[in-house]
Amino acid sequence: MAPKTITIAPVSRIEGHAKVTIQLGDDGNVKDTWMNVVELRGFEKFCEGRPAEEMPRIVTSICGVCPWHHHLASAKACDAVFGANIPSAGKKLRQLCQEIAYTSDEILHFFFLAGADFVMGPGADYAVRNVIGIVQSNPEVGKKVVRCRHLGTQMLNIVSGKSIHPVTAVPGGFSKPLTIKERDEVIKMAEEVLQFAKWAISWAKTEIFPKYLDAVKTVGIIKTGFMGTVKDDGSMDLYEGKIRLMKPDGTYEDFDDDKYTDYIEEKVLPWSYLKVPYAKSWGEGFSMDLDSPKGIYRTNTLARINVCDKMSTPCAQKELEEFRKNFGRPAQLTLLYNWARLINLVYSAEHMMELLNDPEITSKEIRVPVKPRAARGVGHVEAPRGTLIHDYTTDADGMITRANLIVGTTHNNAPMNMSVKQAAKTLIKDGNYTEQILNTVEMAIRAYDPCLSCATHNLDGTLPVKITILGPDGEVKDVLTN
Ligand code: MG
Ligand code: NI
Repeated sequence: MAPKTITIAPVSRIEGHAKVTIQLGDDGNVKDTWMNVVELRGFEKFCEGRPAEEMPRIVTSICGVCPWHHHLASAKACDAVFGANIPSAGKKLRQLCQEIAYTSDEILHFFFLAGADFVMGPGADYAVRNVIGIVQSNPEVGKKVVRCRHLGTQMLNIVSGKSIHPVTAVPGGFSKPLTIKERDEVIKMAEEVLQFAKWAISWAKTEIFPKYLDAVKTVGIIKTGFMGTVKDDGSMDLYEGKIRLMKPDGTYEDFDDDKYTDYIEEKVLPWSYLKVPYAKSWGEGFSMDLDSPKGIYRTNTLARINVCDKMSTPCAQKELEEFRKNFGRPAQLTLLYNWARLINLVYSAEHMMELLNDPEITSKEIRVPVKPRAARGVGHVEAPRGTLIHDYTTDADGMITRANLIVGTTHNNAPMNMSVKQAAKTLIKDGNYTEQILNTVEMAIRAYDPCLSCATHNLDGTLPVKITILGPDGEVKDVLTN
């Protein structure tokens, strides 16, 4: 007799806490699935009443993996609240930190989290299907990975004094100039990371991806739109530009970040602390139905690669052209997120070098003074996990009266749920499943590299809490909801 419910708990090698519930019908085939996010952070509410200038320092505590991106989106929202036009060198220092953080993050995800499924194989025993397994079977690769993560931390320590929970992006600019001596020290490390990035993508393209093309073509397949950030010339940017919202057919609209509420709306699901945004401007409503999804778009690496017209750095541009020739635009295959992640890594490493070679990076003109006022300000960056929007309103003393965050992972909530459902429906038949099949379902989630602690801030009265009270024989006595 087949079990009626399969639970994957916890989902492993992601940031944060989630479980997957798979419900089987009487025929043993998949009836429904849910990816439940079972943690809550709640920053939107308790930031109310704080002085706006504290926000860039407070929000770094949202997540130990993504502090830089919250730090920068917050500083940009504060610039907007205070009406500050920041000096060019201040912006470049912020961008430099962002690109360093990106290189570390993309290496972390590819090699420590998702990569084990590809390097060791989805069917490898879970005891070795992890970074330790990678290090043991490929010691040279392991050494390079650990070395580059170490260099990322060191570079951030030098440029900003602190790699985690940074404090140097301030409303009005950046608080610490980079000396020529420091720049010279950092540039050597950056060169090593750039060489690693180029090696990583060519290694993955020859040794890894060709082995798993079958999985790429079958696991987590859904058809959606995409969101990312582009400059006026259509090139991908991680720090600034217009937000581009692309439909599944490849047509798109570009908009300024402070207009985001005209384009997307957030819904609450009764079974998750994670909201679901959808593309309101398409006018078709919201549905996660696999056959006729409505309003669904994705963010993160594959989305950025799809929405941009080009890359502004030479090696990343070459990689983009090759990727597009193979998979089209927009590319829809979910596991291609991992390939796109390595293109993003190459771009960030190249851009990091460009910034370090720019003489302006050691300028001391990096900050302008700001004054509190009553205003609303929106700031956004591309975080590794997707478009990250901070939206603050202040009173005349510059105190926060309202804060809304839309986090990269949040945009991907509906797509992750759909990919899980697709994977489970395809792989589990007649009640039969194996450890490898359940791991393959998890691979569909891992492709999105979710960061769940970053993404759960819903405390606005529609909190999806449900308490079920059971009697001694397991019968439902009462259900309490708020
Ligand atoms: Mg929000
Ligand atoms: Ni995070």
